[in-house]
Amino acid sequence: MTRTISLTLKVWRQKSLESKGRFEAYPAKDISIDMSFLEMLDVVNEALTLRGEDPIVFDHDCREGICGMCGAVVNGRAHGPEKGTTLCQLHMRHFSDGDTIVIEPWRSRGFPVLKDLAVDRSAFDVIIQAGGYISVNTGGAPDGNTVAVPQQMAELAMDAAECIGCGACVAACPNASAMLFVGAKISHLVMLPQGKPEAARRARAMIKAMDALSFGNCTNERECEAACPKEISITNIARLNREFIKASFFSPVE
Ligand code: SF4
Ligand code: FES
Repeated sequence: MTRTISLTLKVWRQKSLESKGRFEAYPAKDISIDMSFLEMLDVVNEALTLRGEDPIVFDHDCREGICGMCGAVVNGRAHGPEKGTTLCQLHMRHFSDGDTIVIEPWRSRGFPVLKDLAVDRSAFDVIIQAGGYISVNTGGAPDGNTVAVPQQMAELAMDAAECIGCGACVAACPNASAMLFVGAKISHLVMLPQGKPEAARRARAMIKAMDALSFGNCTNERECEAACPKEISITNIARLNREFIKASFFSPVE
């Protein structure tokens, strides 16, 4: 038999960017513990819709922890209480019958609230557009296969490439810093041969974009690393700083 729990949700409701938000309480009754957090919100939304009320707006897409679309602060923690887990992969078995769950959007000047739990994360797109790509001609697959990549570098690059751009690092950081996200993007490109020719220009451009978009600086709080559903290491922030210093001292500005 499926075990169910009943909860009280305190959800941040905000009609638009301009309007003032507030917490509203909703019952979430007879929720299967096998449901994901987003499925639980679907159940609550169905009840709201049947009553003619506005459903709770939240972002989602893949619901399998790979797209980076979902995310909310659950009981004060970005993506909820489970380490290394996106909100869509968080299951209700981690909550107890009778719990009250407080659900809020990411809070950061860089991510303005669009409606309820949905925030505008286009600032991350602007940072990627500034330099998070390679544009050098790398030839075809046979050319790529002739360039040996040390195993350790390939592993570190792939670890950094796990970043799904969800923004939990910004939401968790007291400075609303985006440096874990930018560090992950810089790292995964700079550790592979095809990312090296543009490394200096990339580091300068992405950091300039990040600073212009109201994200704060890193003061080694490590909250980003703790909240990251992909467990991206803050060593990527150290690499970002090294790349920026190298670019500032040793490469002429184009
Ligand atoms: S570093 Fe982690 S928390 Fe930040 S955007 Fe990437 S996956 Fe999300
Ligand atoms: S909905 Fe895609 S990561 Fe959660």
